[in-house]
Amino acid sequence: MNVLIIGGGGREHALSQVISKSNKLTKLFAIPGNPGIAKFAKCVDINPLNNQEILKFSLEKNINLVIPGSEVYLENGITDTFSETDILVFGPTKAATQIESSKKFAKELMKKYNIPTANYEIFNNFDKAKNYVLSNSIPTVIKYDGLAFGKGVVVANSVDEAIDALKVMLLDKKYGDGNVIIEEFLDGEEFSLMTFVHDELMIPMPIAQDYKRLSDNDLGPNTGGMGVYSPVPIIDKSSIEFSINEILKKTVEALYSEKIVFTGFLYGGLILTKEGPKVIEFNARFGDPEAEVILPKLESDILLIVMNLFDNIMTEVKWSNKFHLGVVMASNGYPSKYLTKFPINGIDDTSGIVFQMGTILEDDILKTNGGRVLLVTGEGMTLKDAQERAYNNILKIKCENLIYRKDIGNKSLRGRKDG
Ligand code: AMP
Ligand code: GLY
Repeated sequence: MNVLIIGGGGREHALSQVISKSNKLTKLFAIPGNPGIAKFAKCVDINPLNNQEILKFSLEKNINLVIPGSEVYLENGITDTFSETDILVFGPTKAATQIESSKKFAKELMKKYNIPTANYEIFNNFDKAKNYVLSNSIPTVIKYDGLAFGKGVVVANSVDEAIDALKVMLLDKKYGDGNVIIEEFLDGEEFSLMTFVHDELMIPMPIAQDYKRLSDNDLGPNTGGMGVYSPVPIIDKSSIEFSINEILKKTVEALYSEKIVFTGFLYGGLILTKEGPKVIEFNARFGDPEAEVILPKLESDILLIVMNLFDNIMTEVKWSNKFHLGVVMASNGYPSKYLTKFPINGIDDTSGIVFQMGTILEDDILKTNGGRVLLVTGEGMTLKDAQERAYNNILKIKCENLIYRKDIGNKSLRGRKDG
C-alpha cells in the first residue's frame, strides 16, 4: 500500500522510520517532510495546510492511507477532506479533534463520564475570572481554551501572576477570543499514555515522560518538550493499568457514546496524584518528542495494527523492553526568539538515532531551521545506560547555536522532581 505522512518534524521522522519497515508498504510519501524523513520517504513540496492540493496529490499517487502528524492539520480538517474518498486517514475528524482543540469540550466530557481530572470553572469575563481567583487557593492553573502551541497554560504561584495571565488572555486576547479555564492545581509526577484508537477499540502503548520546561530542574518556560524517556519506572504498574482502563478506555467509550467517532492516536497527558492518576489534557495525535522514544520500541508492523483497526480487529502488539531516552537540542532563545540556519555536523557519528525536528538542507549542508532542532537518542537495557548513550551522542553533535537540558531521565533515576 501507499502511505502519506503529513508533517516535517521529529514525530513524523519517527513515523516514517517505523512505517518504512512495514511488510505492507509499497511507497511512502511525506508532505512536506524534512531531510531526516527523506531517507525513508519521498518528500513532496506541497503546503501541508492546503487540503485540496493534498487530496489531488493523493488521488494521483494512489495513496491508500494518510497519517497526519500535528494537531494543526487535524484542526484544519484534513480528515474531513478525505471523508468522501476511499483513502483512509488515521487521524480524527475536526469534530473529534475537539478533545484537544477545545478544553471546554474535553472537560465537560470528563465530568459527564466521571473521568478523573482537575476541578475547573470556565470564564469569558475578566472581572468574574479575577473574583474566582481571589476566592480560591494558590497555586492555580489558567488555561486558554484553544490551540496556543503549549503557551496558553500558566501555572500561577501567586494571585498577581494569575491575574496577569487572565489579563493577557481575556483583556489583550493574545491567543484569540476564546474562553479561559481556571483549574485546580494538581501535584504529582506527569506521564504520557498514548493509544491507537478506532471507534470503540483502543490499543495502549508503553508510557513516556516528557520534560516540558526549558531548563534543568524544571525551571524556565513551558515548551513543546525538551526531552523524554520510556518506559517510566517511577510510575507503578497499577497506576498504568488504572490509566489504561479507567481513563483512556473510558474516554474512547465516552466519545463513542456521544457518537463522535475517534480514529487515530489518542494521547493522555496524565499526572499521578496522591488520589491516583488524573488527566491534565488530551491530545488528538502522537506526542512529540514521545513518538521518537515509543515508536522505535514497536516490534509489530504498524500498518498491520492500523489497517486491522479500520477492520475492527485488535492486533496483539509487541514492544521492546529496552529503555529509550531522547534529549532535545533547541535553538538558543527557544521558545521565544531565536536565530536559524546554523550548520549541523556530527549526526552520522552518533551510535543512536538522531531525529530531525527542525532542520533544512541548503546546498547539501544540514542547518537548523526551527525552535526544537534535533532529538538525540540513546537506548539500553537500563534507564541509566540509555541516558549515558544519549548524552554521549549529544557530545558528537557540532552546532554553535544549540542548547539542551542535562537532566533528562533523572526523575526516575533519583526519585521525583530533583532534576
Ligand atoms: P497542558 O498544555 O495542558 O499540557 O499544560 C502544560 C503543563 O502545565 C502541563 O504539562 C503541566 O506541567 C502544567 N499543568 C497543566 N494543568 C495543570 C494542573 N491542573 N495542575 C498542575 N499542573 C498543570
Ligand atoms: N510532548 C507534548 C506534546 O506533544 O504535546
